[in-house]
Amino acid sequence: MLQQEKMASIGLLAAGVAHEINNPICYVDMNLGTMEEYIQPIETALRAAQELIEALPEDAPEELRQKAQTFREVYESEDIDFILEDMRNIISESREGSERVKEIVQTLRDFSHVDTSERKYADIHEGLDSTLKIAWNEIKYKAEVVKEYGDIPEVFCYPRQLNQVFLNIIVNAAHAMQDKGTIRIKTWEEDGYVNIAISDTGCGIPKENLSKIFEPFFTTKPVGKGTGLGLAMSYNIVKKHNGEILVESEVGKGTTFTIKLPIEADLGADTAEVEKSQNETVQP
Ligand SMILES: Nc1ncnc2c1ncn2[C@@H]1O[C@H](COP(=O)(O)OP(=O)(O)OP(=O)(O)O)[C@@H](O)[C@H]1O
Ligand SMILES: [Mg+2]
Repeated sequence: MLQQEKMASIGLLAAGVAHEINNPICYVDMNLGTMEEYIQPIETALRAAQELIEALPEDAPEELRQKAQTFREVYESEDIDFILEDMRNIISESREGSERVKEIVQTLRDFSHVDTSERKYADIHEGLDSTLKIAWNEIKYKAEVVKEYGDIPEVFCYPRQLNQVFLNIIVNAAHAMQDKGTIRIKTWEEDGYVNIAISDTGCGIPKENLSKIFEPFFTTKPVGKGTGLGLAMSYNIVKKHNGEILVESEVGKGTTFTIKLPIEADLGADTAEVEKSQNETVQP
């Protein structure tokens, strides 16, 4: 299959999977939240029972004292205090897990989603600057940012989607830095295209990985850190703008991603209204 067809069919698959997972994970998450709330009253009731038992007078009937003793024994042998404590931890870990799944589902939906944000002539430098602000926490201890903004015209595009592309590439650049490095952002106009080159002085990408980095779920990051969807999503968005995304990299030296965007992209008919009505809300 051609790369483009492959991406399109994976996009559809991703959308289907995201849709299927979204509902169950929403109620798993909600139920975990309810369970978390239930622990407190259970604990309160148990404490009250304990106090009642401790308050039992010495001369209470034998039968009652027996029952109190059974309660104490069960409480001890089953280690109820530990169970309560552990239940809290288990639920909060599970919630972290379900939060993470929800995030991944959201990314998958964005990935296959033609966003409904307005398309217009937009200033790419504005997009880059607001993206840098958003990514600042990831960047500030890792890299110095050098801007070499050229004289470029506004580009007909989906600005929010392009910002998503810039964000993915800039965050990847920051992640690639072992020590402090430099992220250089250069823009220029050439032959009806606006070019945006984002370079880093990070670890670089080995040759054998260069052909894989745009594939969904390709990641070299540890579990929980990367989904491997950033560049696949970026690739889709740039393609939609009839643009190109190129990569050059040298291991140990750094990487440059260049995004080429036609100034007057043919974005097809305005489908925003249709897509809005297809945007279902899912009830848990
Ligand atoms: N600037 C870069 N320097 C070095 N390696 C990179 C760079 N950008 C991307 N890569 C490599 O490409 C892989 C895929 O990148 P991509 O953005 O698609 O996914 P990710 O960053 O691993 O996860 P996600 O973006 O979904 O959180 C990365 O795991 C990394 O190995
Ligand atoms: Mg990424």
